[in-house]
Amino acid sequence: MKTGKISPSMFIGVCGKGIISFGSGQPDLPPPERVFKILPQYRDFKYGLIQGQVNLRKALARQYPRSTAENFVITNGASEALDLTLRVIGSMNGKEKNKVLIHRPYYYTYPHLVRYAGMEPVFTDMVDGRIDFDDFEKKVVDCRAVIINSPSNPTGRVESVKTLKQIEKMAGDLGIYVLSDEVYKDLIYVRENYLIKGPHVVTINSFSKTYNMCGLRVGYLWSLDKKLVNNIIEMKTRTSMNTSILSQEMAYEATKTPRSFIDKQVNIWKQRRDLIYKGLVDIGLDLWKPEGAFYVLPKIKKPKDFVWNMFKRHKVITYPGEWFGANDRVRFSYALDVDKIEATGTTYTTAATYFTASGDWLTGKLTGIPAAGVDLITGAASTVPAICATFGNASTVTAGKCRYHALITVLPGK
Ligand SMILES: Cc1ncc(COP(=O)(O)O)c(C=O)c1O
Repeated sequence: MKTGKISPSMFIGVCGKGIISFGSGQPDLPPPERVFKILPQYRDFKYGLIQGQVNLRKALARQYPRSTAENFVITNGASEALDLTLRVIGSMNGKEKNKVLIHRPYYYTYPHLVRYAGMEPVFTDMVDGRIDFDDFEKKVVDCRAVIINSPSNPTGRVESVKTLKQIEKMAGDLGIYVLSDEVYKDLIYVRENYLIKGPHVVTINSFSKTYNMCGLRVGYLWSLDKKLVNNIIEMKTRTSMNTSILSQEMAYEATKTPRSFIDKQVNIWKQRRDLIYKGLVDIGLDLWKPEGAFYVLPKIKKPKDFVWNMFKRHKVITYPGEWFGANDRVRFSYALDVDKIEATGTTYTTAATYFTASGDWLTGKLTGIPAAGVDLITGAASTVPAICATFGNASTVTAGKCRYHALITVLPGK
């Protein structure tokens, strides 16, 4: 099949019949139950404050040091917070020092937003999925701002506290803006989040990932830089105006949720992380172990062909690493309900294999897999050994590999 042109807008939010999406970072878990409770009585449909509803900002101020409601702007998701902040920074100074440093691989919108803001993105390549501070230090001196994203989408890695403190100090000394995108701050498997602080730090956050409220579009920014915050409010006044007040009220309810809600979720993401990581390592892929968020970014040969064929032939959505500045990789989001697949009696409806006869989509060695044309497998969970038999070489294709292979490529019966 000839590779066609794919773009993020083809896939984001797509969840049609039979489609299996490892695409968007959209949690399949429900939001806290209490956010729905306000709906039957809710009757307020007027314009709201541009900066955001006071109750929500006050609730957030209790979570951030030295803060009041004035240090926050509630936005249409973290996306708008990033966009407004960059455009305001882009419009504040003269032509000199108009570069913004981004660590690569990066969240796919960053370079675009920097350009829309009239600035130039420059890149520091990560080593082993983490910031290389030596290179960062060399490049940052020329920059007006840096964007930090830990835990990172797409690498799933978490920066060491040492690196974050080095960045904090360096940016403070140089008077550089730091945009710290912490939308995955509550989804860390290895330690607590470290909040980057400083006079020109803007922390970007969201209700999308912590509370599974992506479509409601509530995010926010926090900064001790009052001038910057005021300029951002000015820009929002002339662009989107207020963020949906119904969504803000639901977000306010979410802030009352006990910490145990988040802890339970982290356990679920961690189990899925373990499953997908082990599975991909077992089949020979080269990837970094995620320490937060819910993404894996394995190396895959011919990534664009892979993504295209998986979508066109098998209705399986994955994202090419190219969108994230990682041309030799493919990104999988594991915000998928594998629990149901694990459940006894669950039906494997469509298992699309990753493999061509030559196995050339994989960097790993998969001797004996599979006979040409083994594309679709249908059967119940109990037939996994039979799937192995289909591959024709049970000695090299273990039941575990095979089961995992099926597991990551199927959805429970719909
Ligand atoms: C790193 C990062 N920043 C920002 C966003 C956008 O989040 P929101 O839904 O709050 O706009 C995402 C969404 O996937 C993300 O991964």
